[in-house]
Amino acid sequence: MARVTARTSDIEQAAGVLRAGGLVALPTETVYGLGANAEDPAAVARIFQVKGRPPSHPLIVHIVGADHLDDWVEDVPAAARLLAERFWPGPLTLVLRRSRRVPLEATGGLETVAVRVPDHPVALALLAAFGGGVTAPSANRFGQVSPTTADHVRAELGEGVDFVLDGGDCEVGVESTIVDVTGDVPSILRPGGVTREDLEAVLGYPLAIPSASRVRVPGQHPSHYAPRARVVLVEPEKVVAEAERAQELGHQVGVFLPPAFTDVPVKAHAVVTIPGSVAAYARGLYGFLRELDQQGCDLIVASLPVEEGLGLAIANRLRRAAGPRPTA
Ligand code: TXA
Ligand code: MG
Repeated sequence: MARVTARTSDIEQAAGVLRAGGLVALPTETVYGLGANAEDPAAVARIFQVKGRPPSHPLIVHIVGADHLDDWVEDVPAAARLLAERFWPGPLTLVLRRSRRVPLEATGGLETVAVRVPDHPVALALLAAFGGGVTAPSANRFGQVSPTTADHVRAELGEGVDFVLDGGDCEVGVESTIVDVTGDVPSILRPGGVTREDLEAVLGYPLAIPSASRVRVPGQHPSHYAPRARVVLVEPEKVVAEAERAQELGHQVGVFLPPAFTDVPVKAHAVVTIPGSVAAYARGLYGFLRELDQQGCDLIVASLPVEEGLGLAIANRLRRAAGPRPTA
């Protein structure tokens, strides 16, 4: 997987843009982020404007290392220290009580803040050069598919971004796992790149997991991560029949063909064969959705993977992509 190391001059320039209150798109191991100086309320406000995201939706503050955690949060429980030590840098976000350094603009008015250390050399170089925290949501328009390449960011946000740091294709491909560590027992608010099994192995006890149908925290609406095409989920063995039925009804159907059906011919507009490895599926997921949109599909027929390991995060994103959409 391409992990381009940005030139030092690009990193310096991007850090300068952050200092001047501008927005920088930065690569992380999960997806690209749309970054601003976390301590600059005006710059943070611009993120919401460029994304078209309601200002009540909290953002993640990216920091350069676990040793900086106490600059941004208060009351760090032992479980949070353990998880930070074990999984940072990496696709894990911890929700903790915010310190006064974090403006309420970045937390959507909440007294908690989400923090993570991204595992990407370009993101870490930027954080080191900038010297502060970078608050960054995924660099997509609100509710849509997250970008996993610099080209996705440019296509989606264009002039809205002051500087795009190209760090190649994102290796994980789905967002970080968000764990709320403010309560007695940590709970997963969003499944992601660090698996529930890995978290539980380190903590030594089971975690609560989210139900996709409930809006648990601001910023997690039923319809999210959605391509333009409508997404329909069926059992894996029904994907081909459902796709052909919809195509016959006049839809331009895109198919997420499960790995077990690779050799089955499908009469549909466009077909993506799902990789057999769940890591490759996660890495490719958002690109597949974008590709089927680009090919002009108006309906995507897919099935859910087994909901363990990274499959839990993939299933969560597909359910939300298939969720009811706001009526225009
Ligand atoms: O992998 C990722 O997490 C990417 C990369 C760029 O780091 N970022 C990302 O950010 O996915 P975003 O804004 O698209 O999703 C962050 C989510 C919010 O939608 C919200 O649900 C949750 O994090 N969140 C943030 N702060 C929170 C808080 N204080 N309490 C509960 N949830 C919070
Ligand atoms: Mg997002």
